[in-house]
Parts: sequence; structure tokens; C-alpha cells
Amino acid sequence: MRKIVFASNNAHKLQEVRNKIGSSMEVLSMNEIGCFDDIPETAETFEGNAEIKARWIADKYQLDCFADDSGLCIDTLNGAPGVYSARYAGEGCTFSDNNKKVLLALDGIRERQAQFVTVICLIWKGKSYFFRGEVEGEIIEKLEGTSGFGYDPIFKPKGHPLTYAQMDLNEKNQLSHRAKALQMMSEFLQRQL
Ligand code: IMP
Repeated sequence: MRKIVFASNNAHKLQEVRNKIGSSMEVLSMNEIGCFDDIPETAETFEGNAEIKARWIADKYQLDCFADDSGLCIDTLNGAPGVYSARYAGEGCTFSDNNKKVLLALDGIRERQAQFVTVICLIWKGKSYFFRGEVEGEIIEKLEGTSGFGYDPIFKPKGHPLTYAQMDLNEKNQLSHRAKALQMMSEFLQRQL
């Protein structure tokens, strides 16, 4: 079976990826190919960061590889936290710190539209391909729900009664930004095999 590396060691993401493309290809994590590097994410776009990670592995190990970069973009904050979503409230901050900072920044503001974005960069036979998944929604006024991670308790997808954190994992994985990007990449890969 053809092998492809996912430039991540996040167990939840790996499971989601294997569910989507696992039967047609063997998906290997960074640890599984013996890579323990902490790859610097220094770009100012999701595309840039995803490509840095995927190129790092493809160049070092000469393997087909893909990487993702995600974040929450809030319209009235000019797209913040964006690529800085993981460390919005500062280095070493928690998910809770980030959610508090967003709620404070939007305190009293009625315009609360936001998008969750995932960009996947795939390096396939040496060439880069990009797949972008987006989910429109809004930031609610207080945390709701306890499942998931990150900004899940404050993000409600458009036309949906529940926040990401009130959905069960299967439901979120059906409609999430990451699922959309993965679906596009999976369809691309099916056409290559
Ligand atoms: P990553 O690039 O997928 O590691 O995501 C960077 C940051 O964006 C995470 O640390 C979270 O704060 C946020 N994020 C990305 N995807 C999600 C999601 O599905 N739910 C909630 N937060 C997310």
C-alpha cells in the first residue's frame, strides 16, 4: 500500500485523517517515521505554515507528505486570532485563556461573525497542492458545551443550534473546517491512485 506522512503527532487529527483516507493509503505520523523535530511555524498565513511543515518532512525524508494549519478568524477583529490562534493569549496560554480573551475583545459588540479555517498543504511527487476548508459561524457570548478543544465552546456554525463543543465528535467531524479540507485532499488523492 502506498505510504503518506501526516506531519503531525496529534492523535485526534490522525484518527480523523485515517478515517477519511486510511483504506486507500497508509498514513504515518511524524513519530512513526522517526521524526521528532519541532518544526517552526513562522509564516503569517495558514498556507505558509502548512507548507513549511509539509516541505520539512518531504525534503528531509523524500516522502509524500501533508500538513495542516488551522485557526479561528473573527471579522471585527480583522481576522484575529488567525494564524496565532494557539497562542492568542500569549506563549504557554490555555484554551480557556484564549476563549476569555476573545469574549473580552467582543464584549458589547453585536457583529460576531467568524470563520474556522483549515489549510492542508500536500507535497505529492515533489509538487505542492493546497486544500482550504472553511466553516462560517458566530462567536456566542458565553461558553457552551464541554467536548472538543480550543475555541469549540464559543463557536456556533451558521444555521446550527449547537456550538462545536455541544456536538459529539462524529457530528463535528462531519461538518468541520478540517473535515472539509480533508475531503478535498482525499478526493484529489483518489484521482491520483
Ligand atoms: P492547529 O493548526 O490545527 O494546531 O490549530 C491551531 C489552533 O487553532 C488550536 O490550538 C486551536 O486553538 C485552534 N483550533 C483549530 N482547530 C480547532 C477546532 O476544531 N476547534 C477549536 N479550536 C481549533
